Amino acid sequence: MTAKIIDGKAVRDEILCQLKNEMETLKQQGVTPGLAVVIVGDNPASKLYVGMKIKKCKELGMHSAVHEKSADITQEELVALIHQLNEDENIHGILVQLPLPAHIQEEAIISAIDAKKDVDGFHPYNVGNLMIGDAYFLPCTPAGIIALLKHYNMEIAGKHAVVVGRSNIVGKPVSLLLLEEHATVTMCHSKTSNLAEIVSQGDIVIAATGRPDLLGKEHIKPGAVVIDVGSPKSDVKFEEVKEVASYITPVPGGVGPMTIAMLMKNTVLAAKQRIENTTIQV
Ligand code: GUN
Repeated sequence: MTAKIIDGKAVRDEILCQLKNEMETLKQQGVTPGLAVVIVGDNPASKLYVGMKIKKCKELGMHSAVHEKSADITQEELVALIHQLNEDENIHGILVQLPLPAHIQEEAIISAIDAKKDVDGFHPYNVGNLMIGDAYFLPCTPAGIIALLKHYNMEIAGKHAVVVGRSNIVGKPVSLLLLEEHATVTMCHSKTSNLAEIVSQGDIVIAATGRPDLLGKEHIKPGAVVIDVGSPKSDVKFEEVKEVASYITPVPGGVGPMTIAMLMKNTVLAAKQRIENTTIQV
């Protein structure tokens, strides 16, 4: 069996098309959704991702502002920038590209973002709501993965989903979202001793480790759905795994485009939410 290749770009384009209509409605109400992106230092991968995010904002007609800061910025200076963006009426969403330099505490920066502008869904308030199944902003990559599975009409309820990787950005939140969809979820990580044995029980495998080529065909049950979150290099040995899986995401062109689509969706949502709150108060 050769797996069907999941086309993240096509699904992204469908989502962006819907968002374009919502943007038109917002603009008629005098609102242009605005996203501020903060990038610290010159990590080449981060620069690439931020460039792609801004490009999509522009294509959608969204307002965007990039704040590029040198790696020696202090935590206090960065918090001050976040506070300024929290107050900025033209900005509905704030994204601080991770990772940050080692001298800056990521939690302190994320917590400084107004939870209503936290389009990444990383603020403890939004993480807490995700935990109780009442999230407003879903974290972008996990939400993109669920959207892909649903787009291809894949059954999630009752399936065994194995998530490899336990990051706050992907592994933990995608596990919660899969649980919300009634999957039976197993989480594996770098200290899991019998990785191949566990992963090969998965009907759905989410590989989000950042370790290139970690999973091969020996890890995959025939007919499983394989979602590769590796970037820029794949976590999955694509050529051999596609011979056993039923569906597989390519890298690039699988999950990555969906992350950006979900970021745009959250920014539009943040703008809509502001209008609703303002209307209620008036
Ligand atoms: N670094 C890698 N993925 C992400 C993401 O989704 N959001 C942010 N802010 N940083 C990241």
